[in-house]
Formats: sequence, C-alpha cells, structure tokens
Amino acid sequence: MTDPTGPPARTRRPRYSGKNPRRFQDKYKELNPDRYGPEIDKVLASGKTPAGMHRPIMVDEVLACLRPVAGDVAVDCTLGGGGHTRALLGRVLPGGRVIGLDVDPIELPRTEGRLRSEGFGPESFVAHQGNFAGVHKALAAEGHAAANIIFADLGVSSMQLDNPGRGFSHKESGPLDMRMNPSRGVTAAQLIERLSEDALATLLEENADEPHAALIAGILKGPTPGPLDSGTPTMLTTNAVNDLVRQALLSAFPRLTPADATLSVRRTFQALRIAVNDEFAALDALLRSLPQCLAPGGRVAILTFHSGEDRRVKKAFQAGLRDGVYATVADEVIRATPEERRANPRASSAKLRWAVRS
Ligand SMILES: C[S@@+](CC[C@H](N)C(=O)[O-])C[C@H]1O[C@@H](n2cnc3c(N)ncnc32)[C@H](O)[C@@H]1O
Repeated sequence: MTDPTGPPARTRRPRYSGKNPRRFQDKYKELNPDRYGPEIDKVLASGKTPAGMHRPIMVDEVLACLRPVAGDVAVDCTLGGGGHTRALLGRVLPGGRVIGLDVDPIELPRTEGRLRSEGFGPESFVAHQGNFAGVHKALAAEGHAAANIIFADLGVSSMQLDNPGRGFSHKESGPLDMRMNPSRGVTAAQLIERLSEDALATLLEENADEPHAALIAGILKGPTPGPLDSGTPTMLTTNAVNDLVRQALLSAFPRLTPADATLSVRRTFQALRIAVNDEFAALDALLRSLPQCLAPGGRVAILTFHSGEDRRVKKAFQAGLRDGVYATVADEVIRATPEERRANPRASSAKLRWAVRS
C-alpha cells in the first residue's frame, strides 16, 4: 500500500468522463486486454498504470536478493497480479516450483487463470487462497518441508484499489468495506460503528501516525448528516469519509492546505484497512514462522510500504541474526531506482529487506 506520508499517489489515466457506460468494468479499455492490447501498451508507455492492472515493484532488486535458481521451491506470499511470481518462475524452472498465496478470493482465480494460460501447469505453479500467516500449512499441503525462497509484497494491489466495490480507495465511490477477503471479518464501516471514539483515535495514531487522529475519530463517530440518495447511511461509503474528514480538517485548521487534508484522508483509509485486515498480526505471524519455513541457506525478501511494517521486518531480521537463525541480513533498506519511482510513483515508498537462513 502506498505510504500516505510519502509522495503523491500514482498518476492515473484520466477517468472516463461520459455518462455511459457507467459500470466499472466498462469504464476502462484496459480491463479488456484481449480487445484493447494496444491501448494498454499506450497507457504503459505514457508512464501511467492501466486501471485494474498491477505493476510489480523492484523486480530486479527482489531477484538480486532472492537469487532464485532452477530447482528452487519458492513461496510468493502475496500473489496479487502475479508479477513477482512470473519473474520467479522465469528463474526456478526447470525443476522448481512457485507456491502463490493470497487472501483475496476475487483476484486469486483471475491471476491463477492468467498464469495457467501462459502455460504454467500445477507442477510449476500452484495457487492457495489463504493468509500468509499460515505459510507453513501451505508448504506442508504441497508436500514441501521448507522453501528455498520466500517473498512478500505487502499491502493491496492496484486491482483491489481500483475496484470501487471493494472500498479501499478514497478516490472511488463505494461501500466502506476494505476486506481483502470479503467473506470474512467486519467491514471498515462496521469497525467504526463498534469502536469507541478513543479506540478509533488510537487506531489512527498507531496504524498511520495520523496527527489529527482525535478530530477525525470524532468526525467518524459523530452523527451522520443524513442518508445519501441511495438511502445508505452516510458513513458507510468511501465518499462520505473522504468528504467529511476533508471538510472537518479544513474548517478546524484554516492554514491546512487541500493537499494536507488529502494526506490525512489517505492515512485514515490506511489505518482502517490495516485494522480491518489485521495486517500487523499477519505480518508478525509470517515473521515468526520464517525460520521453520526456510531451508538452510534459504532466502527471504519483504517489500514494505510504511514504517509500521518496515520496523517489524527490521526487528525480526536483526533478532534472527543475533540468535543465529539468519546467517546474514540486509544492513540497509533497498529502495527503488529514480527511474522506477518516476515511472511508478507507488515504488517511492517501497522498502526492501532480505535475510538468509543459516
Ligand atoms: C501489493 S499486492 C502484491 C502484488 C504482486 N507482488 C504482483 O506482482 O502482482 C499485495 C497482495 O497481497 C495480498 N495480501 C495482503 N495481505 C495478505 C495476507 N496476510 N495473506 C495473504 N495475502 C495477503 C493482497 O490481497 C494483495 O493481493
């Protein structure tokens, strides 16, 4: 996920401005690659990310840390659109295998289908829907005692962000959901309803370092200004949170710029998404299970997008080095090149760390 404290969001192709077609699937030619391949190429060539498509980040750097070779068993804990998995497959075959995990039951079958249509059969690639907190179970289910390579690229994908029905983006109008697995847990709207104002303020501070946490919590818990035209209570939509938080901040702090208000809105969405998906607990569980899941000499690399994630990875790797679980770990965090940051602003907040199992 993009760091709200970092640089501005990825440049998007301008939205379709006509009244019809209205459906999300019909809005973007990029969502129909078979029919509009050249259009997609044009969007990519202009340095923008086509809607509904995820551009993998720091692929060369990830491969340099993981050093995959033919015959390796690799786990991509965050399959997403399959960009990193595709790159790993290019190195571990022949003889190797990639196990792709993703908690998202909507995007996972699409990615699995794309990889199958590229000719990767179950002997070289297998997809598991589930949380990476259970990476050891996925390995065992595939009959592997341990992996040579484990990789994770945290947060949400462009496909998830761009789909208004998922409620991840303050730029899209939709229900305030934010569940990576929509069949489990509570939505962001339900979470706001259940938490006290104080607990919500703490969540905004702890998950996103939001400086106006108390005011925003008050707004989110306050009386809703009335039903929308659809009859949906206001706070149940992404638009409502966006508008109300923005208006409240700009009127409480007249010196605040609209750009500052946008940052607070983005941090609010980030904090809610982290809580809805219990992201820190999943990352902690993954970090705890790495030693048992990596074969001797096995490599792990993790891409993070905000300080709460990077701190956890850094601490776990350093503790593992002290305890002799890891032979070497990254001294310094690795960042995307200026070229990649220019081509894909989402790469600007990415931090890559790696470790090698003793
Ligand atoms: C940034 S995207 C990964 C993109 C991918 N590397 C690519 O090249 O297309 C992150 C993905 O991880 C998934 N994810 C996030 N947390 C997860 C978890 N705890 N367990 C499994 N998948 C998770 C999300 O559903 C999303 O699809």
